[in-house]
Amino acid sequence: FSVPTPVNEPVKEYRTGSPERAAVKQALADFRSTQTDIPMYIGSQEVRTEQKIRIAPPHDHQHTLGYFHEGNAQHVDLAIEAALEAKEAWASMQWEHRASIFLKAADLIAGPYRAQINAATMLGQSKNAYQAEIDSACELIDFLRFNVHFMTEIYQQQPNSAPGVWNRQEYRPLEGFVFALTPFNFTAIAGNLPTAPAMTGNTVIWKPAYTQVLSANVIMKVLKEAGLPDGVINLIYVDGPIAGDRIFSHPDFGGIHFTGSTKVFQEIWRTIGENIHKYKSYPRIVGETGGKDFVVVHESANAEEVATALVRGAFEYQGQKCSAASRAYIPSTVWPSVEEKLRADLAEIKMGGTEDFGNFVNAVIDERAFDKITAYIDEAKKSDAAEVIIGGNYDKTKGYFIEPTILLVKDPSYRTMCEEIFGPVLSVYMYEPSAYEDILLVVNQTSPYALTGSIFAKDRYVIESTTRKLSNAAGNFYINDKPTGAVVGQQPFGGARASGTNDKAGSLLNLLRWVSARTIKETF
Ligand code: NAD
Ligand code: ALA
Repeated sequence: FSVPTPVNEPVKEYRTGSPERAAVKQALADFRSTQTDIPMYIGSQEVRTEQKIRIAPPHDHQHTLGYFHEGNAQHVDLAIEAALEAKEAWASMQWEHRASIFLKAADLIAGPYRAQINAATMLGQSKNAYQAEIDSACELIDFLRFNVHFMTEIYQQQPNSAPGVWNRQEYRPLEGFVFALTPFNFTAIAGNLPTAPAMTGNTVIWKPAYTQVLSANVIMKVLKEAGLPDGVINLIYVDGPIAGDRIFSHPDFGGIHFTGSTKVFQEIWRTIGENIHKYKSYPRIVGETGGKDFVVVHESANAEEVATALVRGAFEYQGQKCSAASRAYIPSTVWPSVEEKLRADLAEIKMGGTEDFGNFVNAVIDERAFDKITAYIDEAKKSDAAEVIIGGNYDKTKGYFIEPTILLVKDPSYRTMCEEIFGPVLSVYMYEPSAYEDILLVVNQTSPYALTGSIFAKDRYVIESTTRKLSNAAGNFYINDKPTGAVVGQQPFGGARASGTNDKAGSLLNLLRWVSARTIKETF
């Protein structure tokens, strides 16, 4: 059998007066005027508890959008039971039938749920309409359609046979259940992490970040409407360490699909190691984690292209992309032109709530993020090692707003050049053109991460040698482009070092982690 050949979902533009803009506006108004009540989904039950947590838009934190119901350790146990109970029927379902559920879910998001899931992402995670569209609509749809396609390719991989011998390979799900632990910053990633293992016949417990609940609930509604059987994905809202405590000590724990911070992933890995003797099989550990993504500029680069890439790479979604450009190395001969264009472009940029479609910059996700990011800015204001040259102001009265901020840094090992800030702060180090080779060493050595990075140059020898010399510094490397915006099926995404296990979300490599192959030899 074959599945439809996927093509990337086209991005809608939401122009003034367009029907798609009207639909999103209506969905935003509906969320604003309704107090959404969000349950957990465990087996066939929608579970509500006494512990209700308020949902507020980060850009308007006094407004209440609704509540979600938080669970405790008992709910984790119930979710584990539900996942194990659903496992046999789901794992033995013919592949075409599992696949059709996810293809239908993609069609539902592309059509009737598009405005709703975008509005949920805009309000709940403070993304503007374009950032929501490329994430919660296009990338999520692509993950679902492309993963079905990749799975079909995996199932078709069979060993050779010989006269009198027929060898075959079954691609079975992992033993036990899979835990999907997801971050706030991409609705698509939150949707991909439980659905990729579920596609291959695993049953899943999904715990999203508490700041992504509004869009997580839409994903779950879509999957249910597409026909996902009860218990295949169990969505729980339980404090991470409480959920981890029950899950990582369970003998049927089969694997974790994680995206989030390096610190949390390392804690999880340590806990799994401590419990390793308890499990029936070695669990699969897949984690995509933090980044300190670089832009290296050579003196042959075009300054305008560099500035445009920096504005988009560093400040789209307030710099809260794991892939965001957060450190740039620019030669002194090119920097004046780049700086001039950065100042001109950033002066045009508007900051505010997501309901106004003219705003490029919205709020950061919550007060904890606001305090962490602004502490870096405040320290830089006092430091001799850095100077705030653009932005640097912030205000959390109505929403968690931080101006796009650029620091000119004198010491390339100053902390804002090395640590993940995860906010709208770009650190620039200006170097003498003759020191280009030294700069490549600095890029490689001053940060533990290796997620994304870019080189801007017109000289092909420089492009070639830089690509080679930085081969371990980024899992996604861009030539004359910003380091954000990987497209499923085009730039498989993930990094190594402190940035993760590099299993490339949205690719065949990732899906291989969710199958356990059995080889069968039959002799005639
Ligand atoms: P986070 O690590 O704070 O949270 C991720 C998930 O883990 C959430 O569901 C959270 O509730 C849970 N969690 C937190 N502490 C836990 C604990 N002790 N035990 C168990 N679960 C726990 O990350 P975040 O703030 O939601 O997301 C931002 C981070 O994610 C950034 O570091 C960013 O670089 C990274 N990220 C990486 C990629 C990638 O592909 N490499 C993509 C997106 C985000
Ligand atoms: N896939 C996202 C990007 O490339 C994280 O920006």
